[in-house]
Amino acid sequence: MFLFLNPTKMSESGDPMPVQTIATVAEMIHVSPFAWSMTLEAGDMVRSSFRGPGQFVHVKCGHSRLLRRPISVCACSSDEPGDLLRLVFEVRGEGTAWLARRRPNDKVDLLGLLGNGFSMDPKGRYLLVGGGIGVPPLLGCAQYAPHGCDAVLGFRDGAHALLTDEFQARCSHVALATEDGSLGEKGFVTGPMAALLEQNRYDAVLCCGPGPMLKAAAGLAARYGVPCQVSLEERMACGVGACLGCAVPMADGAMKHVCKDGPVFDAGEVGWNG
Ligand code: FES
Repeated sequence: MFLFLNPTKMSESGDPMPVQTIATVAEMIHVSPFAWSMTLEAGDMVRSSFRGPGQFVHVKCGHSRLLRRPISVCACSSDEPGDLLRLVFEVRGEGTAWLARRRPNDKVDLLGLLGNGFSMDPKGRYLLVGGGIGVPPLLGCAQYAPHGCDAVLGFRDGAHALLTDEFQARCSHVALATEDGSLGEKGFVTGPMAALLEQNRYDAVLCCGPGPMLKAAAGLAARYGVPCQVSLEERMACGVGACLGCAVPMADGAMKHVCKDGPVFDAGEVGWNG
């Protein structure tokens, strides 16, 4: 059972402290022909640094120091004997292929929890909008606001669909869209999203997925006057604000770091045309 906690251990500045730990793989399951769900026992990482659903861990994939990969947390808990983290990832290269070969009791070097996560009220009502591998962290949002979420999930095709049963178990309504029409509505998430915004009142739209989808979803939320938070994807090296490699432009011309200032931003803050 994955439950979210409030952080209990804070750094001197008052921010939750990220932890580097050697986690133990508790479970590996295939969740699509292309994706794995990995559950890890991660010491006190969740208790130390949880700030909200949507944070990520920087995972050392293999033996090179250069092979850390940022992966969003799908769900987490503080179950004994250690905190549990669930990561859902697709194999997209050498690093994630290494990760997919891990099996129960193998060790994985993690740095986390990193970033800020979505700002949510457990009693709030949310529309979750996810695309592709951006879908897993939204499952954590659905757990954080039980019975208060609807979801629109978009995929390239039915074979790439992820976690749809688990969203259906946790959300009042789940709409699916695929580019080829092999599952759910043919097209992009914006079609079902507009229909739900027309029919319901939400405290916020929470989005995670590819950039063009985020931009379109943010525009649609703005048209309906609903606050919108977006989780940005960017290549990361250090993951902690030290290398400047993940800087993105904001609407006011400033640059912010996806790893440290995000990955979740208010949609109105982002420089979409930058
Ligand atoms: Fe190094 Fe963000 S990844 S500053």
